[in-house]
Parts: sequence; structure tokens; C-alpha cells
Amino acid sequence: MNVLETIEQMRSACQAAKQGGKRLGFVPTMGALHEGHLSLVRAAKARCDVVAASIFVNPTQFGPNEDFSKYPRSFERDRTLLENEGVELLFVPSVEEMYPEGAVTFVTVEGLSERLCGKSRPGHFRGVTTVVSKLFHITQPNIAFFGQKDAAQVAIIQRMVRDLNLGVEIVACPIVRETDGLAMSSRNAYLSPQQRNTALVLSRSLAQAKKLFEQGERRTAKLGGAGKQVFAEEPSVRLDYFEIVNPDTLEPVEHIGDPALAAVAAFVGGTRLIDNILLAT
Ligand code: PAJ
Repeated sequence: MNVLETIEQMRSACQAAKQGGKRLGFVPTMGALHEGHLSLVRAAKARCDVVAASIFVNPTQFGPNEDFSKYPRSFERDRTLLENEGVELLFVPSVEEMYPEGAVTFVTVEGLSERLCGKSRPGHFRGVTTVVSKLFHITQPNIAFFGQKDAAQVAIIQRMVRDLNLGVEIVACPIVRETDGLAMSSRNAYLSPQQRNTALVLSRSLAQAKKLFEQGERRTAKLGGAGKQVFAEEPSVRLDYFEIVNPDTLEPVEHIGDPALAAVAAFVGGTRLIDNILLAT
């Protein structure tokens, strides 16, 4: 595996990798890798000739009072995991490399970026779309792989790629969960054993909404109410939102006709966790 630290090195390594019409797959990450990240790499290996990944804890997607400085960093371990999965190119730029002094240009997907997590994390999605568009310009992949765990992120990146004609195919991969249902996340490392247990309220609330949906309930007020009721039984967890939205526009839905996305965010202690489930027949 070739580890590249500068934009120039990564750009030319990716260009070389695509020689002869080879398909380049790309998996962007912030490191602290787990099986969720590795599932994206495996999907990329299955669909592409060469796979590139990046590890970059992107400061522009963290708010001033968020966990940028304490975000888990485990480069040596991550590097071994990616090498073992057969990743050929690994991009690990510094913050100065990605955002040199005077960088003032941002990419914003208007409207969508203010929904779901965008409401309580202003500027978050602007940071994501800015760094992902930079990474796409540097690597120029044929296909990029994202996790459905961050469903709003997928919708926003798909819209950005369409609106800016970036010519990258976006593949969304299923959420990887622990055996008890907790969605894997780098932030789960912050949880104490007790918090780890109460964090199950997120997946439980979604399962409850899904159960009612499968019993025929289509009114989202009822489905959302049932999801929120599960949180009421776990008062130590602070609910940020439980919403049922159109998976492409992220706009709230009142009555489910087409597939809808039930999405939840909550604070377990100081740790903000998210999860979602698709409600479809
Ligand atoms: P990060 O949180 O490291 O996640 C990298 C990718 O892994 C994302 O596409 C995310 O959706 C996916 N992922 C995380 N947990 C997953 C799980 N349990 N199952 C399936 N996929 C999962 O998302 C980011 O980084 C950043 O915003 C990034 C896109 C790299 C831009 O900085």
C-alpha cells in the first residue's frame, strides 16, 4: 500500500492507477476505523480495479464546541487494517495541506444542509461537501463509497455530484451494526460501559417505528410519536431529533407513500450519536 501525504503525490498516484482504463474506487474516512468503514472498502474492492482511501479528520465539519481535537486517532492500526483489505493508495494529508493559509472557498448544498444534523450542527455539511469535493478533485475516482449510517450525508453528496457534474458514481452501503443493534461509529469509543448500554435506545426507537410501519401505520406523526416514546423511557439520553423524511430531499413526510427515512440523533452523555432506518414495503 502506497501512503501519500501531499495532494500532488496523491493526484499523480491516482492518475497512474487509472492508466489503461482501470476503475478507481475511493473510500473517504476520518480514521478510527471499524467494520463499517471496512465494509465500504470491501464493496469498493468488489466493484473496482484499484481502491484508494483517505484518512483526514476534517476540521471544517466540526463546530467550535465539538470534538475535533479529541476525535479518536489511531493511524498505525488504521493503516494495517486498510493494507490487509487490499487498499492500494492511502491519502493522509495534514490540515495545512488541505486548507492552506487563506483558503476561503466552500461548497454548500443549500436547503438540504440545514436539515436533520444540519439543524443542530450549523456548518457541518458545508465542511463535509467542501472536503469531499476537494478529495474528489484530487483522486478523480470512478466510484466513491459512503455508508448509509450517515444517510443525510449520502443525500447531500449525491445532490452535490449531480448539481456540479462531478462525474463520480456514489454507492451507498448498508449500516454495519454490533450484534445488539448499535450502529458502529468511531464515537462509540467515547461511551462508558453503562452509556454503551443506554445508547441502544437509538436503534430500539427506530425498530419500534419500523414495527408499526410493518403493521400498516403510514402516518408519520404516529410513527415518530412511537419512536420518541422509547426515548422517554431512557431519560439519561437527550434526544436531538427523531424525524421521518424523504431520503433524497430530507424534507419531512406526513404520510408515507414512497420509501421514507426514519432518522434519529441523540446525546448519550456528551457523545452525539446518530442512526436511521429505511421505511419501505
Ligand atoms: P467517517 O465518520 O470516518 O465515516 C467514513 C465513512 O464510513 C462514511 O461514508 C460513513 O457513513 C461510513 N460509516 C461509518 N459508520 C458506518 C457503519 N456503521 N456502517 C456503514 N458505514 C459506516 O463520514 C465521514 O467520516 C466524513 O464526513 C467524510 C465523508 C470522510 C468527510 O470528512
